[in-house]
Amino acid sequence: SDRPRVLSGIQPTAGSFHLGNYLGAVRQWVALQESHDAFYMVVDLHAITVPQDPKELRANTRLAAAQLLAAGLDPERCTLFVQSHVPEHAQLGWIMNCLTGFGEASRMTQFKDKSAKQGADRATVGLFTYPVLQVADILLYQADQVPVGEDQRQHIELTRDLAERFNGRFGETFTIPAPYIIRETAKIFDLQDPAIKMSKSASTPKGLVNLLDDPKVTAKKVRSAVTDTDTVIRFDAEKKPGISNLLGIYSTLTGTAVTDLEQKYEGKGYGALKTDLAEVMVEFVTPFRARTQEYLDDPETLDALLAKGAEKARTVAAETLARTYDRMGL
Ligand code: ADP
Ligand code: NA
Repeated sequence: SDRPRVLSGIQPTAGSFHLGNYLGAVRQWVALQESHDAFYMVVDLHAITVPQDPKELRANTRLAAAQLLAAGLDPERCTLFVQSHVPEHAQLGWIMNCLTGFGEASRMTQFKDKSAKQGADRATVGLFTYPVLQVADILLYQADQVPVGEDQRQHIELTRDLAERFNGRFGETFTIPAPYIIRETAKIFDLQDPAIKMSKSASTPKGLVNLLDDPKVTAKKVRSAVTDTDTVIRFDAEKKPGISNLLGIYSTLTGTAVTDLEQKYEGKGYGALKTDLAEVMVEFVTPFRARTQEYLDDPETLDALLAKGAEKARTVAAETLARTYDRMGL
């Protein structure tokens, strides 16, 4: 394929994806299938950097894959797989660990945040080196671009540094990937507290839109979203974060420009916007839930799709790993 290659991963988490995951990541993945040679994975090896229940992990991995398919990933158009099904990730991960300076790894700010949450004594070495496994994830596929949020930029820098280091020391082996920064409007905020990002860990239950919630619950959350005491429907992320968040969601889900929405709702109250957006949301989540359930009800088909994806991924990963071993004298 002469299309640029992209690689991205998402963690298998308990329960469903939230609206931020969808609008900020998964939706872009679906679009990139058309323009790129896209590799997408459920990163279960990253999930075990914090304690996991084996049964739940397996169920959550299937759930994540089912949701990715329901969101529109098409195994005919992309390579969709589970990270642990491709053993080369762990193998190249070790190589990259041996190339990374201890101080260099210590400067990764996400470890500081995540280990603080765990309690310093509980944090594992795996959590510490997880950015290095991410480096291996990317380099295995010779990815040209990596779609990332702003918070992951440091990891792409590490990937580029390690790829250059390896190439310099052992000869040209890895493609140097570039970040594919997802645009700012794709950032979704908590519906009850628009000062914080919508997030599984930080959001209030009412501020978090889970895609697999009962659509009635979702509609209610949208209708009771926190806005401001003004009445003008205008996008101004700074002064009107609540209404801007709703406009951003509405715009992205319907493909309508924000300026067109501002016009449509000129002179109307916030209630009208919220009622309409609640309906838009219900129209989106209802078929999404049904499709996810179809995949979950047929685990054999789902597992077969994932096995095929892993096989496709392995043809690329094994070639890269073999060349890497050879270059290093292994
Ligand atoms: P969470 O923050 O809920 O734990 P993750 O960190 O697992 O979510 O994120 C998975 C993907 O979803 C990442 O690509 C991340 O950038 C994206 N994402 C998460 N929350 C949001 C949000 N509120 N707005 C936009 N994108 C988001
Ligand atoms: Na995140």
